Order: sequence, then C-alpha cells, then structure tokens
Amino acid sequence: MADIALSGIKKAYGKAEVLHGIDIDIKHGEFVVFVGPSGCGKSTLLRLIAGLEPITDGELKIAGKIVNDLTPSQRKIAMVFQSYALYPHMTVYKNMAFGLTLGNKGPLGGLLGGGENKKLIDEKVQKAAKSLQLEEYLDRYPRELSGGQRQRVAIGRAIVRDPNVFLFDEPLSNLDAALRVNTRLEIAKLHQDLDATIIYVTHDQVEAMTLADKIVVVNEGHVAQCGSPLELYHHPANKFVAGFIGSPSMNFLEGKVTATSEQYIEAILDYDGSTVQLPVQSRTTKVGEKITVGIRPEHLQEGVDLPFQLKARVNVVERLGDASYLYLENGADDPLCMKTDGHSTIKSGDTVEFSANLTAVHVFNADGNALTRTTTDDRYTAPTLSS
Ligand SMILES: Nc1ncnc2c1ncn2[C@@H]1O[C@H](COP(=O)(O)OP(=O)(O)OP(=O)(O)O)[C@@H](O)[C@H]1O
Ligand SMILES: [Mg+2]
Repeated sequence: MADIALSGIKKAYGKAEVLHGIDIDIKHGEFVVFVGPSGCGKSTLLRLIAGLEPITDGELKIAGKIVNDLTPSQRKIAMVFQSYALYPHMTVYKNMAFGLTLGNKGPLGGLLGGGENKKLIDEKVQKAAKSLQLEEYLDRYPRELSGGQRQRVAIGRAIVRDPNVFLFDEPLSNLDAALRVNTRLEIAKLHQDLDATIIYVTHDQVEAMTLADKIVVVNEGHVAQCGSPLELYHHPANKFVAGFIGSPSMNFLEGKVTATSEQYIEAILDYDGSTVQLPVQSRTTKVGEKITVGIRPEHLQEGVDLPFQLKARVNVVERLGDASYLYLENGADDPLCMKTDGHSTIKSGDTVEFSANLTAVHVFNADGNALTRTTTDDRYTAPTLSS
C-alpha cells in the first residue's frame, strides 16, 4: 500500500519560496491530477515527491513512513517526463531494461543490481511491451519511432521497475490531438491494470477531468482546491478554481450587494444594472460589498424560461457543428460566452435574451471565496423583496 501524505510542504530556491505549505492526502491506487497555470509549482511538487530535489520544510510520508531523506529508488517511485528522455543509442528493449541493470547509480536508481537476473529482466520488459503494444518495436531505436511510441517506451521504462507510485509530468503534451486521445485511454487502462498510485501533471482540462479520481488545483504555490472532478466543476471553492476548471471558462459578472437575508442575497449587476436575487448564505458578505456572479456558458439557455435572466447583443458566433458558442457584448470586459446547440440560427448582431437556473449561478465574495448555496432545487425562485 502506498498512501502518500504531504503536510506543510515548502520549497524555496535560495530566498524565493515557490511552494508555501502544501497539504495533500493521496490514497493507495488513486489517480491524482495536479493542474494550475504555468509556473505555479506543479513540476516542483512532483520532483519533491520523487526525491529529485530536497524538501525545504514539511513532511512527506509514503505508506506511513517519513521519506524526506530517502533516495528516489528507496521511495519506489518512477517518473515519466514530457520529453521522453530516451537514450538515442539504445534500442527500445535496452531503454526499458536499462533502469533494471543500473544498480543504484542512476538518478532514479535501479532495482535489481548490475547484471543480475537476465531472465527476470526479460520477463518484465516483455510484459510491459505487451501491455503497451510495443512488442514489434523492441529492436528499433527511438529515432525510428513516432512521438506516441516514444512516450509509450518512456512509460514502459517506468512500469518495469514495479514502482508503488508513478509520477507523470505532462506526458502527452508533445503528441498531436488524435494520439493524445489514444495514449490517454492507454494511461487510464494502465491505471486499472496496475493497482498503482498515479500522480499526473497536465495543462489539459479534458485529461484532468477524465483521468482523475482527484484533482488538485495549484495556484502560486498554494492548493486552491482539492476534490473530485465533479466537485470542482459544480462547487468551486473560489473564483480562481471556478475560472480554471471548465472550458470555455465560467463567465463572471461584477455586482454589489444591496440587501441580504439568511437564505439569499440581492445584488445589482454592473453589467446591465439589473437586480438579482441569489440563493446563497449571506454570512460572509454584507450590504455594499462587491461580489462576483459566475455562470458557465453551458448553463445559459436561450429564452427567459429560467429565473436568472440577461439580455445582450451577439458579437461573434463560433459554430463547431454539435454546438455553437455565442460571444456576447459585455462593455469593456471580456465578452460573455454562451453555449447553444449546433442548429441555433442566432447570428452576430442579434440581440438575445437568455437565462439560467439559480442553482447554476455561483457567487463569490470580495475575497473571491464562494458563498454557500442555500438550495440545490432547480425550481427555486428567490422571493422578491418588498421595498
Ligand atoms: N531550479 C530552480 N531554481 C529557481 N527557481 C526555480 C527552479 N525550478 C523552478 N523554479 C521556479 O519555481 C516556480 C515553479 O516552477 P515549476 O516548474 O514547478 O512550475 P510548473 O507549475 O511546473 O509550470 P509549467 O506548467 O510551466 O511546467 C517557477 O516560478 C520557477 O521559475
Ligand atoms: Mg512543469
């Protein structure tokens, strides 16, 4: 079993601290995905877990044991990088077997010791090659392979070491779109077959949403939120996560609180001066405070059937076939985006009315933290305040 626990993990390069106290619990067998903007510290976090760099402060436990001072090979962790880092002068077979024959000399060490047990090594390489459909390429050199095949060799090289934990740093980002989909499915299958814990870094929303049991959103060296893909999608804890998870991004409308009661707040939107009642707890905001209202493009629909209503001029229409995205006039700010079905006849220049359920509307206080919803009932309509 390889539960992993990070508590208060910090990392500084000289005086610059890049990770500011990271707490994450990962259960054995979980597929955990780290996402976040470039430079937020995802790769650094992986390197600390792998043991490729020292941890500045905090505690890293694997299977209940503190491993801060253990070498990478003692941690039984294998890492697969974005640049496959294959040895160009070795065949696929040798690339995969190499780590097993190295002894503990290489950066990730070897597990079996020099020259030991050729038969066992052969069995492991053949088995990994079979599961990754690389059997017919074992005698080739990396330059004779496609990008996807090379990445599979890099994964194979990790598999043969029987690690408890796999770390992947953007393993698919060098592949074209079709190959990404295939290799993504292979990685999902690998996870089912291997009974190993996987920690995976990606920029790709779809990879994160489809592969992860748990997503950790990292922002500027902090954990912004950690939860299942659907938890993050439906209940983002803050504006950062709300804007980061989901594509196209959530729309944000600024506003100001004009009245509060226990079960809902009333706010006036800068967008069109309209007043909206929103079913959220009022404890963490007050009258006069700025709030942000968030609504995803896919939760807006044409017409005024639903209680949260807006009206806007369409600037641009993007037709993707199965769906169209309408980009709506929003003053000087980013345009609002609305997803509509592919048959919609709306064109740029049209003025449309659109609406959403109040339960699909997110509200963030002036600090960017989400206000807790008071109902999950889609039929909910806020009461009108008597003036
Ligand atoms: N060896 C180093 N010395 C000094 N600063 C470093 C070093 N490695 C990384 N950093 C800094 O630490 C921060 C986090 O870097 P990291 O590579 O972890 O980001 P990332 O989230 O993986 O980004 P990307 O998505 O671009 O790969 C960055 O500001 C980076 O410049
Ligand atoms: Mg990185």
